[in-house]
Amino acid sequence: MEKFILKGGKKLQGEVFVSVAKNSILPIIAATILSGSKCTIENAPELEDVYVICDLLKSINVKADFKEGSIYLDSSCMVGNEEPDSELVRKMRASFLIMGPMLSRFGRVKISLPGGCNIGSRPIDLHLKGFKALGATIDLGHGFVEAKADKLRGGSIYLDFPSVGATENIMMAAVLADGDTIIENAAEEPEIKDLANFLVKMGAIISGAGTDTIIIKGVKQLKGVSYTPIFDRIEAGTYMVAGALTNSNIKIVGAEEENLRSLIAKLIECGVKLEIGQGFIIINGHDGLSPIDIKTMPYPGFPTDMQSPMMSLMCLAQGTSIVTETVFENRFMHASELKRMGANIKIDGRCAVIEGIKSFSGCNVKATDLRAGAALILAGLVAEGTTTIEDIYHIDRGYVCIEKKLKKLGANIERIQV
Ligand code: EPZ
Repeated sequence: MEKFILKGGKKLQGEVFVSVAKNSILPIIAATILSGSKCTIENAPELEDVYVICDLLKSINVKADFKEGSIYLDSSCMVGNEEPDSELVRKMRASFLIMGPMLSRFGRVKISLPGGCNIGSRPIDLHLKGFKALGATIDLGHGFVEAKADKLRGGSIYLDFPSVGATENIMMAAVLADGDTIIENAAEEPEIKDLANFLVKMGAIISGAGTDTIIIKGVKQLKGVSYTPIFDRIEAGTYMVAGALTNSNIKIVGAEEENLRSLIAKLIECGVKLEIGQGFIIINGHDGLSPIDIKTMPYPGFPTDMQSPMMSLMCLAQGTSIVTETVFENRFMHASELKRMGANIKIDGRCAVIEGIKSFSGCNVKATDLRAGAALILAGLVAEGTTTIEDIYHIDRGYVCIEKKLKKLGANIERIQV
């Protein structure tokens, strides 16, 4: 088992380079199935979740080689009756994103129902609603879901919630359907646009990605291509908060203003000084943190994935801050770990009331999920004394070599085997 050991109090300096986005590369790797050919995904981040989805594709006869920063995929040997490895599907929710491409290309797919996870039940009803609107029949039973259609046909779907995964899965199911598909109340996240750009490069006809209405004109075939996904706005945001928390001057290379507007607005609101450049953002510390209120919303609202890192910052703002989590039903587990470090947080349903404290005190804590783990690292950077973080496998799912990137900025953090 591995742990992170942090000794707080060090200022950070220099620059950190953001990696390609986990939440972009995962649906894009799934989408390569649609080509029935060779695809290369460049600048791929060495993340646990990327290895898992490559293993999942290998379980359905796709060649997937991750070498020298690129992933070489070849789905030409798929025959269509493959059943994805259930263990892998249950291990990572994003595995469910292969359902749309398999249904689209072969007219059938049988896959294990994805498990829930720590942050919520993570239902799939909107994904299935979309497949049905395209003419598929859905059978559920014995922990599996099977979708079938002689030929998917264009349809219209109004999503009850702008679900990122459902928008992606339906878009991938629609690209080879007969006719036009419209998705209304679609998710608008930058990762949706990135997936659409990849599909269009393969030959799909898609308009409106990145808005709440996406139109897909079905085509006969898609071709294999090379592609480099966008940078990870959540990783970038996490390092921006690291610079703010440690009151440092650091440059985050790869941070894109257009994908981070809500976070930038909130950081400025609480007194953080920053500079926005072309392809980078500089954090210039602060002269004292003011309390603010945050409400997570679908994009372009404040991202739920930045809620826990921002909570660590709010713990040191002098006053009362309120954080409302509207996207997931159980995404405050980091609060109890931060309270072990001295934070003053009261949880009431979807709301967390945070009273500012002078400083965190280092102690043993556990990462409960990916972003909660990031919040604990941030707190450990400024805590008095030593902080030990267990279950750091959660963190490795979404942050490339976080301890190396932080050490390069001057943080005192070590990864140890125990
Ligand atoms: C994606 O998850 C991201 N994961 C999540 O990032 C992110 O937090 C989330 O979008 C919201 O931005 C990837 O892209 C791999 P949703 P996803 O479907 O697609 C409800 C991280 O830390 N819902 O937009 O699963 C659901 O219960 C991860 O990087 C339904 O009700 O999120 C939730 O309340 C965590 N029915 C809300 O929508 C459905 O069929 C948002 O879920 C689907 C979703």
